[in-house]
Amino acid sequence: MLEFKEKDKRIVKDLAHDSTKEGSRYRDFSANLIAYKDPKSPAAEAFRILRTNVSFSGIDRSLKTIVFTSPEPNDGKTSTACNFAIAMAQAEKSVLLVDCDLRKPRIHRYFGIHNDIGLTNALSRIDADERPLLNYTKKIPEIKNLSIITAGFIPPNPTELLSSRKFQELINQIKDFFDMVIIDTPPSAQLSDASLVGKISDGVLLVVASGETDIQAAMNAKKALVNVGAKILGVVLTKIDQKSGSYYRYYYSNKYYYEEEK
Ligand SMILES: Nc1ncnc2c1ncn2[C@@H]1O[C@H](COP(=O)(O)OP(=O)(O)OP(=O)(O)O)[C@@H](O)[C@H]1O
Ligand SMILES: [Mg+2]
Repeated sequence: MLEFKEKDKRIVKDLAHDSTKEGSRYRDFSANLIAYKDPKSPAAEAFRILRTNVSFSGIDRSLKTIVFTSPEPNDGKTSTACNFAIAMAQAEKSVLLVDCDLRKPRIHRYFGIHNDIGLTNALSRIDADERPLLNYTKKIPEIKNLSIITAGFIPPNPTELLSSRKFQELINQIKDFFDMVIIDTPPSAQLSDASLVGKISDGVLLVVASGETDIQAAMNAKKALVNVGAKILGVVLTKIDQKSGSYYRYYYSNKYYYEEEK
C-alpha cells in the first residue's frame, strides 16, 4: 500500500495546480450541465435538493466517495453525476469528478476539456512514470472547487483495471485531498465495472430513467451491487414526463439540450 506523508501531500497539491492549463476547455460546456448553465432553473434546484438529501444520508457515516451508475445505457448517469458534482462544488465543497466509464467516457465532452491523459494512464503499466493520481486532475476554472480526472485512453481490459489493487490504492489516496469524490461508471445490469467501483466506495446512487429503464434490468443492477456489498444510497429518477409538471420539466424541454445531443 502506497502511503503519503504530510510533506508529500503538500508537494502533490502544488503539482495539481500546474495541471490547470491542461484543463483549459477546448469548447463550451454541454447544455446538459444545467446546474452551471442555468443555476436558477428548477432542474438546477433539483440537483441542489439531491445534494441536500445525499448530505443528510451521510450524517452517521463518512460519505466521501459516491458512485453513479444505472442499469442500462443512456439512463442519464453521466449528466446526473456531472450536475451533482457542480451542485456540490457550488456549496463550497472541494469535489473531484472521476470518469470510470472506461468503455464510453463522456465527462471530458460534457465539460469540453481534453481527454489526452487520465485515469487509464495512471493505471496502466505503459505509463511507466508513477505519478500520484492528483497529477492527472484538471481544474475547471469557471467552477471553483471542481477538479476532474478524465478517463484517459480506452483500454482493452477495463474490468481488470477497475478491479486492480492499484485502482483501489489510487482512489484511497486521492480522497484525502477532496471533500467528495464523485465517480461515473458504465451501466451495471450487464457489466461488473460499476459493482467493482461501487464496492470500494462509500455509497452508490442508482440512476433510473422514467418510462425507459427496464424493471428487470433495474432489479439485476440492484442485485449485482448488493451482492458485492455496495451500499445503495438511493435512486435518482431522470427523464420524468414533461406533462407531469415536475422539477425536470424545464430540463426536459430545454431546446439547447436536445440540439447538442443531435
Ligand atoms: N434528467 C434528464 N432529463 C432528460 N434527459 C436527460 C436527463 N439526464 C440525461 N438526459 C439525456 O439522456 C441522454 C443520455 O444522458 P447521459 O449521457 O447522461 O446518460 P448515461 O446513462 O451516462 O449514458 P451511457 O450509458 O451512454 O453512459 C442524453 O441525451 C441526455 O441529454
Ligand atoms: Mg455515461
